[in-house]
Order: sequence, then C-alpha cells, then structure tokens
Amino acid sequence: MRVARLRRMFAGQLARGVGMLLPKPLGVLAPHPPATAAPADFTGPKRYVPAASQNFATLRSAAEQYPQAVAETEGFGWMRRKPYDPTQGHPHFFQGMYAILNAVQAMRLPPGALVMDVGSGPGWVTQILVGLGYRVVALDPSEKMNDLARRRLQGFEAMTGVAADAASFITATLEEADLAAYLAQVDAVMFHEALHHVIDERAALGKVFALLRPGGCVSVSGEGSWTPGDTQLERSLDAEMARYGTLESPFTRPYLRHVLAAAGFEDIQFHLGVNGIFAEAQARMELHQVANTPAAASHALLARRPMAGGLRPAAADPGQTTAEITVVSAAWEQGGLVVRVRLRNTGRTLWPAHVPPMHQGVTLALTRHATATDQMEAANRCPLPQPVPPGGEVVLDWRFEAPALEEGPCYLRLVAEQAYWLQGALRVKL
Ligand SMILES: C[S@@+](CC[C@H](N)C(=O)[O-])C[C@H]1O[C@@H](n2cnc3c(N)ncnc32)[C@H](O)[C@@H]1O
Repeated sequence: MRVARLRRMFAGQLARGVGMLLPKPLGVLAPHPPATAAPADFTGPKRYVPAASQNFATLRSAAEQYPQAVAETEGFGWMRRKPYDPTQGHPHFFQGMYAILNAVQAMRLPPGALVMDVGSGPGWVTQILVGLGYRVVALDPSEKMNDLARRRLQGFEAMTGVAADAASFITATLEEADLAAYLAQVDAVMFHEALHHVIDERAALGKVFALLRPGGCVSVSGEGSWTPGDTQLERSLDAEMARYGTLESPFTRPYLRHVLAAAGFEDIQFHLGVNGIFAEAQARMELHQVANTPAAASHALLARRPMAGGLRPAAADPGQTTAEITVVSAAWEQGGLVVRVRLRNTGRTLWPAHVPPMHQGVTLALTRHATATDQMEAANRCPLPQPVPPGGEVVLDWRFEAPALEEGPCYLRLVAEQAYWLQGALRVKL
C-alpha cells in the first residue's frame, strides 16, 4: 500500500451533468433581518386591491362560499377534474403541472418532508405531494373545498395504496388559522394560484416565515402579477370579484419582494419556467424566449427562511462554498479504492448532513477525469457523517467501488448533491 498526502483547495463551480439540477443563482451571504423588524415603508403600487383587510369578514365568507357559487352555474366538474384539461393543447394541465413540478423539484425537499399547501382548494397539488411521499397540511377556508380534496385523496389511496391520511386538513384562512403546533416545523409552504386571494399579506407571509424550519422554503406559483394600468387584466379581476365576491388582488413584483423581505426571507428569487422539447435549431434561444409564461406576467417565486447565524446551505450558494481536502491514505484493494480523507470547510456555507438517497449533503466522488462533464465515476459517493459548518473538519473513511477506474489516474471531487460539482479535483497518487 502506498500512502499519498495531498492537499488541494476546492471552490464552488457551476456544473451540469446527468441527474443534476441547475444550481440556483448565486446569493450574497448576509445576516438576515430579524423577523420582528418593522418593515420599511413601501412607496409605490402594492396590490390591485390594496386595503382588503378592512373587509376581512366579507372576503372570508366569499371564499367559504365560492365552491357552491361556482357549482350553481358550472357544477363541481372542473374542481373535481383539476388539473386535467381536455381542451385543445391542454393549457391548464400543462401550466399547472409544470409550475408545481418545477417548484417541488427546485426546493430539493428531503424525503417525507412536511409541506403546507395553502389555499389547497380541490386538492390536486396535495395529491401530488402525498404521492411523492411528503406529509401535507392542506389549508383552505372552504369546508367544501376540503371535502372535495379529502375525497380525491381517498380515490387516490384506493387506486395507488398511498395513504390518504398523509394529508391533514385545516379549514381556515391562513391569517386566522391556529398553526401553533407547526411553528418552525414545516419544510416548505406552497401557494399555487392562491396568494392573490390572501387578504392580509403581511400577516400571512409573516406566519409562513414562523412556520418554516430554518432553511425551509416558500414557493409561489400559478400567480399572475399586476402591472398598474393593465386594463385588460383589471377588467377581468373586477368581473370575477363582482360575480363571486372573492378577493382577486395580484401583487406588483417589487411589493411582493418587499413583503417577503420584511418578513425575514432571504434568497427571494423570481424564476422562469422552461419546459417541453425543443428543436435542435432552437438550442441557442434565450430562456425568456422559451419560458412557459412571460416573466413580467407571472410570479414564479422561491424564498427561504435563513438558517441560524445567517448561514446558507452549500447547495444554494456555490460562490461561498470552498473546501480543503487532504488524502491521509489511499490504496486499491480488490476493485475498490480504500481512502482516509480529511475534509475542511473553508467556505461560508453549511454542508448539511446527508439524507439518503444523497439529498442535499456534500459528498465525495471518485471520477476518472478532473472535469465536471465526465460522468465516469465510482459506483458510490461518500456522504458526510455529520453536518460540517464553516471552519469545521471531518475525517472520512470510505471504500469506493470502482473496478473500472483501477487502471489509470482518478480524482477525488466534491459534489453539493442535486446542485453542482465543486470546482477542483484532487488526483489520487498511488
Ligand atoms: C384558485 S384556488 C386554488 C386552489 C388550489 N391551490 C389549486 O391550484 O387548485 C384558491 C384557493 O385559495 C383559497 N383561499 C382564499 N383565501 C384564502 C386565505 N386567506 N387563506 C388561505 N386560502 C385562501 C380559496 O378558498 C381557494 O380554494
């Protein structure tokens, strides 16, 4: 056995590869404002209906009655069928499914995560979340909506065996619901086609912040934005409010960002959704040319409750993720490389503990080549046994199963799972 002692710095690098998500845009490491900070005044247009809280009881009552009001003219057909849209091109189906699946994928939730579906309505989002193995709290002010959702989940259970009781239901507005049991427990809060119905946005988003565990995410999708003077949109909002009495009050983008920041959120990021297949000739098109909806017309948004000490998880911040790696020993033994490696977090992000299967944590990989594009690697990545904070160190003992790599040079590289490869590769000398 030959022993190699090597040291090398690794730094965050954007990388794409099979099975990897595009990393989130870089953020800046900064302490977050306390959730209790008084929000700075916001000047400028806020929401289409700016002072809806003054009519809280009337608007709540309209939301409670909405399903019955729709049923009088249209029946419950669409509510029960949602999102399956049989019309030409299936626009509601694709918009809804893409929006939800993009949000769920981008949040990188751990298996079995606790997710709150706010304004859950007839429960199709709840059903997808339950089907993906999450525990769901579905919240809606309408008992009729919750009935429809419960029945949907029972049907889903009968068809798939996925237990309907993975979801629990709360009948209340978000602003009024008693959610004390969930404080700092929830991994993600999702609003799909729901935020513009919330009557008191400051109370609602402040509450969401308190429900999330540190590092947890809020997502907003299926949410139109408001640009003052968009008379076509405003006419349709007026018509809907006149017909059902419900609140239809979309946000301007600057105001929505402001309310989230005032509640204490960080990494407030509006996104473009891009889905579908594209002809090769379109390969050089800009994202905004192929986005599902024009960015200005919709809010597809993720934001996060900061972790303690203002830290960010490594997966969210390649620019602040660096490492030093030392190979204490390395030897080939029967088609495997047995290593002892010392890993030091020299950056400013937290490397979370590993959650199987390879969720979030930083892992050590063994590959044939030093570049990010090469996919030839040992069968098993080495997880961290515990979270490693900035300045922290961990010693890893691992056997890489890698008969295909034994002949020739190979490299140790770090991966922020489901996000990016760290920059740099340490050649293992034997
Ligand atoms: C357009 S529906 C969307 C339902 C569901 N998310 C979906 O995609 O099918 C909006 C839902 O928000 C609910 N809602 C209205 N005001 C609310 C509030 N203040 N808090 C929570 N939910 C509310 C309504 O009852 C309704 O079910």
